[in-house]
Parts: sequence; structure tokens; C-alpha cells
Amino acid sequence: MLTEELSLTEFAKFRDYIYATAGIRLGDHKRLLVSNRIRRRLKATNRGDFGEYYSFLMSPAGRDELPSFLDEITTNETYFFRDRYQYDWLKSKFAPEIAEEAKNGKRNKSLDVWSAACSTGEEPYSIAMSLLDGLSLQKDWRIRIIGTDLSSAVLATGRQGIYNDRSLQLVTEAEKRRYFDNSKDDSRPWAVKSDVKNTVTLQSHNLLLKPKGGPYDCIFIKNVLIYFDDGSRSVVVGHLLSALKPGGYLVVGPSEGIFKMLNGLERLQPWLYRKPIAAQAARPVAAPVLRGFKK
Ligand SMILES: C[S@@+](CC[C@H](N)C(=O)[O-])C[C@H]1O[C@@H](n2cnc3c(N)ncnc32)[C@H](O)[C@@H]1O
Repeated sequence: MLTEELSLTEFAKFRDYIYATAGIRLGDHKRLLVSNRIRRRLKATNRGDFGEYYSFLMSPAGRDELPSFLDEITTNETYFFRDRYQYDWLKSKFAPEIAEEAKNGKRNKSLDVWSAACSTGEEPYSIAMSLLDGLSLQKDWRIRIIGTDLSSAVLATGRQGIYNDRSLQLVTEAEKRRYFDNSKDDSRPWAVKSDVKNTVTLQSHNLLLKPKGGPYDCIFIKNVLIYFDDGSRSVVVGHLLSALKPGGYLVVGPSEGIFKMLNGLERLQPWLYRKPIAAQAARPVAAPVLRGFKK
């Protein structure tokens, strides 16, 4: 019979599996929340109780269930221009700086940015909007913004590029006119314009694994490592630093908890770091044992 809440032993099993697969460290106070979320997957997969669902998840047949399971566990809250000052910096400092470098022949007119753990896409699209503006919509630049997330469900929403009013809570009327068309969906009336959309590619990626692309001129990592512990954070930080170009910038969320791991970078703001041109090799770190994901 299905009990209301996971037992302590059941919770420990799910908690350890979530840590091993996603790096997310759940405290005991999350037991009820996790129980409620897993219960939805029990229904969806026709499992009678938590134990049966866990056995299914561990079985070869349950391998395809892992993404849906993690979709229930992760927090996907996001919106356009979250922490507006970071986008002001992109537009008014970063973009002019690289435009000047290109003018002086110090770089190509190409730019690679990674929005790591981008959820439904508001973050990479906000980056695109700021850069297109900052580079004065210059057509001869190759701007490539990669947004990645563990969850394929949020990425699918992001690829549609259609949003509700809540996602646009910080977007001004002028920005709405500039970056959005009206969609045909009444509940999600805002469609990202194609010139913005075309610069963004959304891909599935687990932050615990080595990044596939790069190197990047700028990486955003926001509101995700807050759910990790120091062990899994340091694995991710190692990957981020290895994917950052010498001289590249790291934009960090306000509560990420990684400041002490960024000693090798120049600290420009509490939320902004720069990799030295002659960067030291990142220190090796102890990784959580990954389960369920192919390297
Ligand atoms: C709260 S959202 C943050 C979105 C955006 N960066 C922002 O600040 O608005 C956190 C996202 O991290 C993703 N996530 C959690 N663990 C992850 C992992 N191990 N690898 C990649 N993405 C992960 C979740 O799926 C979720 O969409």
C-alpha cells in the first residue's frame, strides 16, 4: 500500500541516487517534498509503491525513466533578465570591449557564450538580447549562445521560445516591442523574435560531465549549484573553468556557494570573475560517483 511519505530508508536511497546522477544534495527536510514529487512518477509509470518504483528505476527497463524522474526533482524557476545588473554589464561593458578588440584585430568577430543550467531558455535568450544590442545588432558577428540543462522537458519548452507574462515580469515595454512577437497562444502570449532565437542553441547536458563544446568567452552559472554540495560543486567548477577561454568571464548567481573555489580567477564583482590570460591548470577534485549517465 502507498504510504504518504517515503520512509527514512527509502528517502536515503532516492537521495543518494539523485546526488550520484545530478549532483543535487537534498537535506532530510526535503523528505515530504520529494515524496510528493516521486508520487507523480509512480502514477505515470503505474507502480504500486515507492519501493517498487525504486526497483524499476534501478532496472535496465527503468533506464529511460531517469530523465522524467529528475524532471520532477529539479527546480526550474527562471525568468528574463533575472539579476538585471548582469545583463547591463553584458550590454554596456562586455560587448563594447570585445567589439573594440575586434576593431583592433585582437580577435575575430565571433563570440561563444554558455548558459549552463538554463532551464526553459529565458537566460540564454536574455544573453542574446543584451549582446545583439551591445554589438549594435552587427550582422557580421557570429554570435553563438549555447544553453544547456539536464532536463529535456525544459529544453523543449525553451526551443519553442514562447513565454507567459510571469517569465517577462522584468521585461520593459520597449524590450517587449524590440525582442518579442505576439504568439497565437493566449496563455503564453510572447514569442521570442527569430533574430534572437537564431543565435541560441539549447542542448541536453549534465553539469557533472565534461562540457562538449567550448571554449567560451563567457559562461553563466546561476541558481543551480545552490542545490549542490561542495563535492559536486567543485566537479562542476573544474569543468566550467576548463571550458572558459583565457581572458573569458564567469557570471555567477548570487547564492551559488562557489566563491572560495574561484581563487584562480580575477574577482571583478562578487558575481563576476575573469580567467587570467595565462591561466593555471584547475586543481583536480574528487568527483561524486556518477550513475545512470553515460560519460
Ligand atoms: C533554478 S533553474 C536556473 C535557471 C537559470 N540559470 C536562472 O538562473 O534563472 C536550475 C536548473 O538547473 C538544472 N540542473 C539541475 N541539476 C543539473 C545538472 N546536474 N546538470 C545540468 N542542469 C542541472 C535544472 O534542471 C534546472 O532547470
